[in-house]
Amino acid sequence: MNHSATDMSSSPLPEGGSRGEPTLAPRGAGGTAHPPLPEGGSRGEPTPAVKDGGCAAVPVITIDGPTASGKGTVAHGVAEALGWHVLDSGALYRLTALAAREQGVPADDAARLAAVAGGLDVRFEPGCIYLCGREVGELIRQEEVGNLASRLAALPEVRAALLARQRAFLRPPGLVADGRDMGTVVFPEAGLKIFLVADVGARAERRRKQLMEKGIPANLEDLLRDMRERDARDANRKVAPLAPAADARQLDSSSLTAGQTVQAILNIWRQAQAGR
Ligand code: C5P
Repeated sequence: MNHSATDMSSSPLPEGGSRGEPTLAPRGAGGTAHPPLPEGGSRGEPTPAVKDGGCAAVPVITIDGPTASGKGTVAHGVAEALGWHVLDSGALYRLTALAAREQGVPADDAARLAAVAGGLDVRFEPGCIYLCGREVGELIRQEEVGNLASRLAALPEVRAALLARQRAFLRPPGLVADGRDMGTVVFPEAGLKIFLVADVGARAERRRKQLMEKGIPANLEDLLRDMRERDARDANRKVAPLAPAADARQLDSSSLTAGQTVQAILNIWRQAQAGR
């Protein structure tokens, strides 16, 4: 289902996050630490939910979509509004890429890359990500790291090594998980699955603005080319390709602010709750 701008609120989100996107709630990504819950949200909204280790039922909203579709910003906004945890799964692939690059592990050595992914020494704190005690939140947002992450993410061994870390993020009162395969592979029983899209021109322009705000020069043509390449690689890989789950709701954010997109998802979630 597509949602147009007409059925969404227009409250903009605050600026200034680690991706050049607003930081709305502590970023978490399945590491050793779980982010503290933001204050003030409603907690423990009722299921639909996913079983947490076979014990409690924990509600999950997944937000998948292509590069720079705004998933991270929107996931944090939804998590903050609901008072839930958030999982930025792309950060784990980026951390694996950074660690592999620094350790000199070749991009086609699946066994060693899986070992790097499985052994990541990461710590997540609000607005900061530490790899082996070093803050790398900005470093992993570099385009080269994202492109390498996308190559490593095509390897089944790497994906398998990161699966448990991602699922470990499922904790009460709820989880908003963003990535490529959150609704299809990692949390297939999620109560709401959003597939967030935006046309590639809008996405490249957003990314260019983010980079410019950080003082990093960016060429729109280069960004467009990289984005198309990465989308194609993510969508065409054999394992967990970028694709909407059969029961996902598609949302086009090309002409929406982040705040409008957050509101649209909250509306869908609340309607689903009311209709249960
Ligand atoms: O979302 P982000 O751009 O940070 O992700 C970096 C890369 O990691 C993506 O291009 C994609 O190849 C990979 N990724 C993935 N599955 C996820 C999240 C990210 O394959 N769930």
